Amino acid sequence: MKIPSEMSERIKELAEAISEAERVRVITHIDADGLSSAGIICSILHKEEKQFSVKAIKQLDKDNISELFSNMRSDLLILTDLGSGQADKLPKNKGVCIIDHHQPVSSEILQLNPHFFGIDGSREVSSSGLCYLVAREMGYRDLSPLAIVGAVGDNQDSRGELLGLNKEILKEAEKEGLVIVEKDIRIFGRQTRPLFKALEYTTNPYLPGISGSERGAIEFLEEIGVPLKRGDKWVRLVDLTEEEKKKVLTGLVMRIVKTGGSVESAKVLVGEVYTFPAEKGMLRDAKEYSTLLNACGRRGFPGVGIAVAMGDRNENLRKAESILDEYRREVSEAIELLQKEGLKEKGILKYFLAGDRIRDTVIGTVTSMLMGRREEVLVGMANSENGKVKVSARTTRELTNKGVNLGIALRRAAESVGGDGGGHSVAAGAKIPRGREMDLIEFLEKEIERQVNEIDG
Ligand code: C5P
Repeated sequence: MKIPSEMSERIKELAEAISEAERVRVITHIDADGLSSAGIICSILHKEEKQFSVKAIKQLDKDNISELFSNMRSDLLILTDLGSGQADKLPKNKGVCIIDHHQPVSSEILQLNPHFFGIDGSREVSSSGLCYLVAREMGYRDLSPLAIVGAVGDNQDSRGELLGLNKEILKEAEKEGLVIVEKDIRIFGRQTRPLFKALEYTTNPYLPGISGSERGAIEFLEEIGVPLKRGDKWVRLVDLTEEEKKKVLTGLVMRIVKTGGSVESAKVLVGEVYTFPAEKGMLRDAKEYSTLLNACGRRGFPGVGIAVAMGDRNENLRKAESILDEYRREVSEAIELLQKEGLKEKGILKYFLAGDRIRDTVIGTVTSMLMGRREEVLVGMANSENGKVKVSARTTRELTNKGVNLGIALRRAAESVGGDGGGHSVAAGAKIPRGREMDLIEFLEKEIERQVNEIDG
């Protein structure tokens, strides 16, 4: 595996710190990459017979840093999938380390972050990929599927394949027989959903007349001559013949292009899919697995997700599946609400203020899903606890190629209104005080304009 030598050293340091610790506390992010990361680290700790505890949080910020770090009873605290953006604000206790792929700030704290080694953490490796590199250093190669789940959960396969370090991890997992890599139509629910349902729920790309419409999805399949059922069983994507898959793909591309979409935007329909042969049901497909974990975190049951990631295929898996059902209902109600209300506009920005009507942990997912409709920069906000507002912002690769970096822009905008934020070039988040929403929008719009003009000029 091609890892820069300084990074290999850092991985070794982390592995040593874990080996030497007796009592370890893990703090992770609540999304799929965060829970996969915790799944990897806690599996190592369990196998190494360490005492450990784990907590998943929405975000590390000035409000919770002092609480999380006060009276530390562990001799090692590992932050996964968060912490790098705030590393300069953390207490410099010995025994704190960070495994994260978000844009970092430097600090004396031991950090394994790809950006320090010239590797793009938004595309080439996720936090769970980094945790896996530590696990591998300690001899636990069987944990690579979780690295793939985390990367896919963070959409690092959005170009149709995993790249960079992710690809190397994938190849290793393939060699070990832990994953099967295939090119296929990429719609959610390949393994588990009737095809018409999977099409109805597809929002990226937006399928005109099909996304969000069961009737539309059924009519589409009838139109192209692909059966809804074989015998008394609903046909899933994995049940289609090659011929039928071609019909579906051509039909979808034509539908997108006919209604003014570009062939380029339809390209995301085809790409690599990752199957874990040892798993059953949802957990066989990396995308479905990551969605299950994400739902657990977002609905306030991260422990259930971590237990699944650590291998529980009984009670916690059943719980996770019902959490996912509730989560889906919550997300589709939120989307319906916004469709009714419409988005507001400020220059290049489109935005919505959900107030208390959408939960703060769901606003990121909802914003991402609405991006499927060719918005350029979309900002969603919802009320959070302690008089704060959660902000989620998303943009397109086209704009990041023009110089836009949302992580930086949103951090500045949030700081200018007394909050904090950060993230990646295409996706970022923040927390700001209530009442400053429109000030943030104004600042962010100017900041993005400035980023684009800096490159143009
Ligand atoms: O919360 P949301 O999904 O909108 O965040 C988008 C991305 O920005 C995530 O990868 C999240 O971890 C990151 N983020 C960050 N610092 C923050 C808030 C979000 O790095 N303060």
